Amino acid sequence: MGATLPGLLSALVLLLLPASLLRVRDHHLSRREAEGGLHPVVLIPGLSCPDLEARLTDAYRPSMPAGCSREEGRWFGLLTNRTWELDPEHAACFVDQMRLVYDPVLGDFRNLPGVETRVPGFGSARGFGSKIPTHPEFCLEALRSALESSRLGYREGETLFGAPYDPRYAPPMPGQASQVYSRYFRRLATLIEDVSRRNNGRPAIVLGHSFGGAVALEFVRNAPLQWRGTFVKRLVTVAPAWSGGYVLPLMAFASGPVGFLFVPAAPQLAMRSMWRTFETALANLPSPAVFGRRPLVITRIRNYSAHDIADLIVAAAGSADGVRPFRDRELPKMDYLEAPMVPWTSIVGVGIPTPEQLIYWDGDFDRQPQVVHGDGDGIINLASMLALEDKVGKQPGQKERFKSIKFPGVPHSALVTDERALSVLVDEIGQANHR
Ligand SMILES: *[C@@H]1O[C@H](CO)[C@@H](O)[C@H](O)[C@H]1NC(C)=O
Repeated sequence: MGATLPGLLSALVLLLLPASLLRVRDHHLSRREAEGGLHPVVLIPGLSCPDLEARLTDAYRPSMPAGCSREEGRWFGLLTNRTWELDPEHAACFVDQMRLVYDPVLGDFRNLPGVETRVPGFGSARGFGSKIPTHPEFCLEALRSALESSRLGYREGETLFGAPYDPRYAPPMPGQASQVYSRYFRRLATLIEDVSRRNNGRPAIVLGHSFGGAVALEFVRNAPLQWRGTFVKRLVTVAPAWSGGYVLPLMAFASGPVGFLFVPAAPQLAMRSMWRTFETALANLPSPAVFGRRPLVITRIRNYSAHDIADLIVAAAGSADGVRPFRDRELPKMDYLEAPMVPWTSIVGVGIPTPEQLIYWDGDFDRQPQVVHGDGDGIINLASMLALEDKVGKQPGQKERFKSIKFPGVPHSALVTDERALSVLVDEIGQANHR
């Protein structure tokens, strides 16, 4: 036991004090804490932000003749902020080693045999960054700086943290197997418990942008109810790419992940076949609950609504490989509308033309479609964001603790860079510290 004699003595003195004095002492303590401290913030960035490292074992069989030899057993940067500058040969290796496989027996995705991966930088708000050199602003750098330079004075490693994840996998709903997310959720829970302890037991504010917003939401929904109450001060989702889905992922699945991953030396069709193996390629396809029967993809011979996604997967991919994981894992999530049951702020952009309907008139999915736009933040459709607020945010027990902020004319990525949006975000975090 670590109790020292002076410690034991002061505990004894406390026991002997009259109750009224004890209350005074408690009161002073809590006021001092309230004055000096902050609720720690954990940032979860968008899909294009985390890095990945890999190492190969002798079980790895490259699918291209040139091979992709690496010193066996050594970790190397697989997805980094320099992936965009790969030459064609290394880009081919990247595309090969990133692929996932779906294991129907486990009901779960996993890496290619012989490829081990890990996400570096976990815990740090500087542990991730944009992979697209023309868009250095994609990955919460501006929000991090705003939190550090604001009067709140957040500090990396003391009150400010980050939780990058493997962007190829999607978070499960409670009860679904996910080797990758079981581990990630455990690490994130441990991080939060740890930083909360180091900040006088103050629960954390968990903030996610885009796909990171979905990861944050699913983390909370997967945690035991009592744990959430103890450790989550507030959930903040900014333009979350949640399981209600949006139309753009249909285009990425059909024609390639333009805008999601940037590797110019890799042929678009190779990027597409890699992308189609990712769970994230399926997880954000438009859900029937949000998009109903309206036609989302139009070809001369038939239209596809959110109810026809399995058919579209087969038509676009020319194979049924994606259908099983889509039906087994992603469809059930689309109907999962449980509220997170913690204080929750939802921040979304509206009024920006957003892909809503894709016309592949001659059925050629190798070419970019003609796009019809509707309302949204330029990436995520307004219908999806409203459905999240109405079906999840306004549930009994949640709606009293749900706050929605809409920014007309602020696009998806600008919600974490635009000065006005940033000041509202910082303000929201400031308020969470005083509520
Ligand atoms: C790229 O990432 C490394 C390490 O993750 C970091 O030190 C470096 O500053 C980043 N470069 C850019 C241009 O973001």
